[in-house]
Amino acid sequence: MRLVILGPPGAGKGTQAASIVETYNVVHISTGDIFRENIKNATELGKKAKSYMDRGELVPDEVVNDIVVDRLKKPDVEAGFLLDGFPRTVNQAVSLDAALEAMGTKLDCVINIHVPSELLIDRAVGRRVCPTCGRTYHVKNQKPKVEGICDDDNSKLIQRDDDTEETVKKRIDVYERQTSPLIDYYKAQGLLLDIDGSKAIDDVFEQIRRGLENEA
Ligand code: AP5
Ligand code: ZN
Repeated sequence: MRLVILGPPGAGKGTQAASIVETYNVVHISTGDIFRENIKNATELGKKAKSYMDRGELVPDEVVNDIVVDRLKKPDVEAGFLLDGFPRTVNQAVSLDAALEAMGTKLDCVINIHVPSELLIDRAVGRRVCPTCGRTYHVKNQKPKVEGICDDDNSKLIQRDDDTEETVKKRIDVYERQTSPLIDYYKAQGLLLDIDGSKAIDDVFEQIRRGLENEA
């Protein structure tokens, strides 16, 4: 399956992506994770991306498009993929369509997770992540067994630099202006699977599972 997961910051894309890749054996490609990995390793790309991410703005299309197009050429992607956080502008979506067409393939489904704005801020500001394995927690909704410690590897959980209330508000605004037009773009292609992301994590996955099985 070739999938995109779309939704505002804090909608639960990364959380659902973990279950989707495990259930459907597809490769998880998260542009946010690629940038954070590059920031951690202090690469040129990381330095460039950080200045945009810290302000809650989008990294320029030409930087992102090349990264994703290169990643889609790797052999492990042939079995299927889930793009998380990409595309984020109509320009990126057009570039993705062109890259897939050149590869003789196309998307099967775009999972659109919608969540009311008032829930998004609480979700993103309360998020904690494991710097070692990348697992995501939440201070209220998805607590680790021991406060502040990853269940899997005992690492100390951290907060993302862009998860301050001010930056989250900016990211939601950027989503509404630059990314939400993709909903109509994919609706017009008959690819959109609308999911109510305000429900509990397991319920949201159940909606996705049922939706994808109807597509198959
Ligand atoms: P990115 O990393 O993609 O961040 P985002 O889109 O802002 O999304 P988040 O990771 O914040 O949220 P999510 O939907 O994955 O939520 P999660 O599952 O963690 O991008 C970061 C930055 O990188 C961008 O601002 C931009 O600068 C740059 N960038 C990345 N891609 C780009 C691109 N293509 N073009 C240009 N720039 C790009 O859940 C959030 C919290 O809620 C967690 O704590 C979780 O436990 C909790 N939660 C999840 N689901 C539920 C639920 N159902 N009920 C209760 N709690 C829940
Ligand atoms: Zn961990």
